[in-house]
Amino acid sequence: MRPTAPSASAIAGLVSGRSPGGARTQAPPDLVTERLVLRELRVSDAAAVAAGAGDRRVAAYLIQVPSPYPIALARRWVAHRIEWWHHGRGVTFAVTLSHEPDVLLGTVSLRRYARDRRAELGYWLAQPVWGRGLATEAARAVVDFGFRSLGLVRIYAQVLADNRASLHVLDKLGMVNEGVKRQHVHKARRLHDVVLYGLLRDEWSRRCRPSANPITTPTAAPIRTPVPSPAAATGRRSTG
Ligand SMILES: CC(C)(COP(=O)(O)OP(=O)(O)OC[C@H]1O[C@@H](n2cnc3c(N)ncnc32)[C@H](O)[C@@H]1OP(=O)(O)O)[C@@H](O)C(=O)NCCC(=O)NCCS
Repeated sequence: MRPTAPSASAIAGLVSGRSPGGARTQAPPDLVTERLVLRELRVSDAAAVAAGAGDRRVAAYLIQVPSPYPIALARRWVAHRIEWWHHGRGVTFAVTLSHEPDVLLGTVSLRRYARDRRAELGYWLAQPVWGRGLATEAARAVVDFGFRSLGLVRIYAQVLADNRASLHVLDKLGMVNEGVKRQHVHKARRLHDVVLYGLLRDEWSRRCRPSANPITTPTAAPIRTPVPSPAAATGRRSTG
């Protein structure tokens, strides 16, 4: 059985976690993968955000992150991202190892545009944990969550063209290279090309191995993300 679009009742379930004023009252669910727990951001994560994202090797590839990153700014960023979820504007997860859920290694986010049923994927990880496949594992879990539980039809990402590691992450996720926005972003005193990647719900459904327990309603309980089968991996389109 393939994963299907969330039913009307599933989407209604997401909406039902709202206060009379319209804000969501429940926290986003934890997403559990083979090695990671993706959990809701906490104000106490601000120091790790400032240190990790503010590292010049990380900030160099993030459009609006300064290096060094003042902790007060990181606190405001975290508070703002927590609010996203409660107002239906998206979700930002703290990436943590399963055995150390209090230690933030990075973040993965979906900025949601509800009317268009699309969201922009964003992520970073602290430099000491690069190269272990953790960004791919975390981003895959969030893409699955977006399609399975947020009713999205399209998830996309925008990457500085010289960011080889991130381009490779998106290839590994099976996202499609949709082209280059030339000289699109000003950073570090020059204009950069930006590569656009996208994945549609139908493409994801065809590639994704079904979960034994597909998510139908939001829950505080952990959500396990399926590990892709070799067959699913070979079916992925390489976008170079
Ligand atoms: C992009 C980023 C999240 C990747 O994290 P990661 O955990 O190292 O990613 P993964 O290990 O899952 O995958 C990276 C892949 O890119 C490859 N890679 C790394 N550097 C590369 C380079 N210079 N050229 C080509 N491939 C490269 C890795 O070998 C790996 O591929 P593999 O699994 O086939 O060996 C991390 O580098 C980062 O935080 N960068 C700064 C912030 C950023 O760029 N965010 C994304 C903005 S769009």
